[in-house]
Amino acid sequence: MQKILVARPIFPDVIDRLKQYFDVDWNNGDVLSAEELARRLADKDGALTAGDPVGASTLAAAPRLRVVANMAVGYNNFDMAAFNRANVLGTNTPDVLNESTADFGWALMMAAARRVTESEHWLRAGHWQKWNYDSFLGGDVYGSTLGVIGMGRIGQALARRARGFNMKVIYHNRTRVAEQIETELNAQYVSKEDLLGRADHVVLVLPYTKDSHHTIGAAELALMKPTATLTNIARGGIVDDAALVEALRAKRIAAAGLDVYEGEPNLNPDLLTVPNVVLTPHIASATEATRRAMANLAADNLIAALGAGPRAGQPPNPINPEVLGKART
Ligand code: GLV
Repeated sequence: MQKILVARPIFPDVIDRLKQYFDVDWNNGDVLSAEELARRLADKDGALTAGDPVGASTLAAAPRLRVVANMAVGYNNFDMAAFNRANVLGTNTPDVLNESTADFGWALMMAAARRVTESEHWLRAGHWQKWNYDSFLGGDVYGSTLGVIGMGRIGQALARRARGFNMKVIYHNRTRVAEQIETELNAQYVSKEDLLGRADHVVLVLPYTKDSHHTIGAAELALMKPTATLTNIARGGIVDDAALVEALRAKRIAAAGLDVYEGEPNLNPDLLTVPNVVLTPHIASATEATRRAMANLAADNLIAALGAGPRAGQPPNPINPEVLGKART
């Protein structure tokens, strides 16, 4: 029987599914250190990860490893150049999380714009004595301009929801999306600078790569309207968190919503001291149905890539399909 490592706690019934095909080593505990991950992979044919870094040294320590299935759509934790050199397949879990993640982008954007968590903290602290005409004044979402940076599947799901809020949608992306999609979303392609200057609510939904590192830093924040909000549901590192803290403190922008952070789960401690930011712990895809779908899709990829199950040899979501069928190096 082939051996696999499931590097994280996941739904036990997905483990049971995997056990039908494989000898499963399940880390149902704390996150594995790089050394521990490499040690547990030494005799494995496949692995299921969720954000665990896998690069050249990990692959070198795992000579039998042929596939790593990430339970996430983003795979910036994989060094794909190293995967390609070693002929190891990486897979991810696109699509199944689009709608839940787009919903959550809206939740954060609206919470930031309307100061939901800030006012709740104030209420819980016992400060509410009377109604005030100017308590927690925020910015409108209905009828405003939404700026989406990263118009992929999730960005499009997010923009589709803007119609019900009568919003103007502008977007920036590495490449312009098909005209048919622009028409459907009533979305206008603009430069990043133009978007930052015009949007009332900026939402980041782009992948994290070396090119997207600090897409939003001090210079970009300076272009935004003082009434604008910034929401990041993409990846930490896309925003310069220290520059954001400064901008929020100085009211250079009105508010922010963050689900992801540089260095998470550790975050810039200054963020915790700033009232006009909504902070959540990387949960944009976290609904019961979606996290189940992601876990099952990661399992489908692993099973198929290791030549088992109904799709043997044809994993649904290969990131580097060019290595399929090539001998491990
Ligand atoms: C979550 O962040 C994902 O990439 O799926």
